[in-house]
Amino acid sequence: MTYIETKTYDQMAKKAANLLSAQVLTKPHSVLGLATGSTPLGVYRWLIRWYQKDDVDFSQATTVNLDEYVGLGEQDPQSYRYYMNTHFFDHINIPKERTLVPCGTAADPEAECRAYDRRIEALLGIDLQLLGIGRNGHIGFNEPADVFIKNTHVVTLSDSTVTANARFFDSPDDVPRRAITLGMGSILQARKIVLVANGAAKRDIVREAFTGPITPRVPASLLQLHPDVTVLYSEEETPQEVSV
Ligand code: F6R
Repeated sequence: MTYIETKTYDQMAKKAANLLSAQVLTKPHSVLGLATGSTPLGVYRWLIRWYQKDDVDFSQATTVNLDEYVGLGEQDPQSYRYYMNTHFFDHINIPKERTLVPCGTAADPEAECRAYDRRIEALLGIDLQLLGIGRNGHIGFNEPADVFIKNTHVVTLSDSTVTANARFFDSPDDVPRRAITLGMGSILQARKIVLVANGAAKRDIVREAFTGPITPRVPASLLQLHPDVTVLYSEEETPQEVSV
């Protein structure tokens, strides 16, 4: 594991963007695993800037998002598909049909999970997975539990995640209680992992995840077993102009 601590949020975001950019430069048809939330916003902003300067080209890449709320469609501003379109995909040259996000409005969410795993398998897995981390150690929506779940699955969000994500909704009651998430197996199978975290409130969980015991109570701790993880941390809170 490589641990890099930067002074500012933007330095952290730029380093992560550099790793994604290098991935696409060295392998144009890369499969990039992507995350939503506040933390990666600066990463996407740097990538958009470099795309606009002609320094990075996404035309042959494919992206696979980690998760989506059950019940939210792509027109819903709180859906992760909407977030990805507005914060990244609409501003770069990736064909939309090669941007995969689980379908939150699938009639059968369980069947959607199985189909999502088959699509990832058909892509021969993820080359580089960008991750954030929840304050409770979740990655994707793999919440603290008694066991690690390997495949894409429907999860009931923990109270702490619902509370943390309520900032994006008008009221905590509007936060969906269920989500589809990539499982720990698919995340671990990514050939490279880049985890970004910032803010004082994430310092302890980052330390616990990467130096504490490997336990499903701290899902990110499983990343200790991965041979190519880069953790980028900045104590600086997400600046106002970046946050959603
Ligand atoms: C979202 C995701 C989540 C977030 C985590 C941190 O796609 O995978 O695990 O990365 O909840 O969210 P922020 O960055 O908003 O603190």
